[in-house]
Formats: sequence, C-alpha cells, structure tokens
Amino acid sequence: MTDPFRRAARIATVELSEILQISEAAAAMKKAGRDVISLGTGEPDFPTPAPVIEAAHKAAQAGETTYTATVGTLPLRQAIAADCERVNGYRPETSEIIVCTGAKQVIFNAMFATLEPGDEVIVGAPYWTSYPDIIGVCGGKPVVIATTAANGFAITADQLRAAITPRTRWLLLNSPGNPSGAVYSAAQLQALAEVLRDAPHVGIIADEIYQHICYVPYTSFRMVAPDLADRTLIVNGVSKSYAMTGWRIGWGIAPKRLIEAMIAVQGQITSGASSVSQAAALAALTGDQQLLAERNDDFRSRRDMVQAALNATGLIRCGSADGAFYLFPDCTATFGKKTADGTRIEKDADFCAALLQTEGVALVPGRAFGVPGHFRLSYAYSRASLTEACKRIARFCQSLS
Ligand SMILES: Cc1ncc(COP(=O)(O)O)c(C=O)c1O
Repeated sequence: MTDPFRRAARIATVELSEILQISEAAAAMKKAGRDVISLGTGEPDFPTPAPVIEAAHKAAQAGETTYTATVGTLPLRQAIAADCERVNGYRPETSEIIVCTGAKQVIFNAMFATLEPGDEVIVGAPYWTSYPDIIGVCGGKPVVIATTAANGFAITADQLRAAITPRTRWLLLNSPGNPSGAVYSAAQLQALAEVLRDAPHVGIIADEIYQHICYVPYTSFRMVAPDLADRTLIVNGVSKSYAMTGWRIGWGIAPKRLIEAMIAVQGQITSGASSVSQAAALAALTGDQQLLAERNDDFRSRRDMVQAALNATGLIRCGSADGAFYLFPDCTATFGKKTADGTRIEKDADFCAALLQTEGVALVPGRAFGVPGHFRLSYAYSRASLTEACKRIARFCQSLS
C-alpha cells in the first residue's frame, strides 16, 4: 500500500543537518554522564542584552501580541533602514525591506519565490550547510565552487565567470563566512561585481549575518556595487550580532519587486514574524551599540587563543579567519594515523568521531560544509570550555601513532 506520508521528491534527500546530529549525539553523551564539550553549534554564548528583553516584556504587556503585517512592523523596518545607513552607508526605503522569521527564512523566501526547476544557484564551498538544502527544496540546483585556504576561501572572479551559465539565477555570497570565517575584501567583491555586470540574468544574495563579528574592515556587497542594487538581496538579522538566535528575526533588503514576491511566499508560511520578537529587534537596533564592539573584541581574543593552541598541536593547520566565530582547520595530517584503541583515521568524520569518543569534544566534520579534510570549531563558548577543549584536542593528537 502506498504510504500517504511518503516524502515528496523535493525533500527526498533532505536530512537533519550533520551539525544538529552531532549536537544531539553530544547531548545524549552528556545525559549519559560523559563530560562532553560541544563546540558544534553556531550561536553566541552571550546573553541577549537586558534592555532588549525588557522591551519585549513591555511590548507583550502593552498588547503587541497580535498579527503584524506580513512584511514586518513599520517601526522595525524604519530602524533597519537607519541601522543600514549608520553601519553600511546606504539607506533603503522601508518598502525595500522584509522582516522574516530568522535570516534563514529570508533566503528560503527568495529561493522559493524565484527558482524554476533546474535553475542554478552558485555557492562557494565551504558553505553553510543549509544553502544546498534550501536551494534543492525550492527546486534549484546548487552549483558548488570549491574555494581554497590559499585563496582565503573566497570565490575568485575567474571561478565565477566559469560557473555562470544561462540557467544561473543567483550567486549566493556569505561574508564573514560560515564555516570558514573568511571575509571578502572590497577588492575581491569588486572583482566579482565586474563579472556580474556582464551577466545581467544573475541575482546576488549577500548573506551578511555575521557582519558585526568581524576583525578586519567590513565591506557590504551593496557598497562596492551600488549599480547592481537592482538585482541584489542583502540578508542580515539580529541572531548572531545581538545574541538573539532564539528570537528568530532576520531581514532582507532588495528591490521592491523581489520583496513583494517574498511577501507572497511568507504570507503562506509564517505570515509576519513574532510581534514580540520584532519589538525586541527594534530595541536591539535602537539601543546601545557599544556592546557589539565589546563582544567583537572578546570573540577576537578567543579566536587568537584557540588558533594558536590548534597550530601548536603540530597536526592541525589552522589558517586565519577574520570573522564569524568559527575556525575551519585542516586535519589531513592525522589521516593514516591510529588512535590509542587502534581506530584508523582516514577522513575528517573519523577524526571528529574519535575525538568525541575518546576526549568528549564535539566538532563538525568539514564534509558537512562541502570541504572534507577539515573540521569546524565554534569558539562562541566560554574561555574555560575552550581552554579545556584545546587541552583535550592536543592530548588526542599526541595519542595518535
Ligand atoms: C551563514 C548563515 N546565514 C544565515 C543563518 C541563519 O540565521 P538565523 O538564525 O537568523 O535564521 C546562519 C545561522 O547559522 C548562518 O550561519
């Protein structure tokens, strides 16, 4: 008999992401009494700022508990426009802004609103694990460009030119990048913009969600290529910068015709984002911004500490990562070696599995991001956890023969 709950073809290959699988495995080990340090998930360990929580509380008490406009509240969209001008130097119209339930939904809405079956979306690897899945669920085909550590994990102009076909609908850029931590310089973005000027059928999604976690001068794609604004979607939100992952507020800035198509999609999925969360995001954008710099400094010093400790193992090569709160080191020097119990390490997943089993440190294998031979480590954890994790990773490396 045919199962009425059989999966539709469009989601046949979509599984729980490896990141979530590892977090769940680590949580299960912890529950069973093991001392586990999980550096797997990508969320800041800082609390949501107290005034933001206060504002949400007040909004709920004042009756801001009903549906909002699908596109988002006007005060929040005005605050996003002002924030964009302050931070990036351009001010979008409020009609060019949509508020969504997290930055993830911004990308989903745009893909769902525009992709025809088989349309191509160019993505650089390593990529955020959700990109190919979102593209696939929306009927598109991810076209993956392999970037290298030597190139700072950035797509080059030549690679982009070679990847564009008549079926290309979007280039999906992410800077600072998850998982690489790579930040595109103005010159690198300019070189890509040059290629895109010759490809007027290609839209650009610039996922700038980690913009405020960045240790080098930051350039928004929109600023290097204002002439391409008519086909650019900027993605941002409060999740990472203000430590508000659970509040689920992100936004897109794009020409009105795309915003309208995204509203059509969102109107049939979630409608407007949570009213209380929108009030919270408004407070975040209009409140004290000093904390962004303070938290950024803190992340930077944790990065320095972990990077140095990993390189000191002699078996892990950890290059620079100028933003986000991830390192994406190379662990290929451990391949061919054996753990104390005789397990042979042949690939990144073996390295991560053996490390979790023997030392209780959870990391995510690079294959989850399209680049095997590496692992992703999130340093958005306490210094004590990071210090202990580094000690265990070093001990694990020493134990290999
Ligand atoms: C590159 C990137 N874009 C978007 C998101 C999603 O952000 P949000 O939690 O606001 O949906 C994430 C979250 O991990 C991310 O790493």
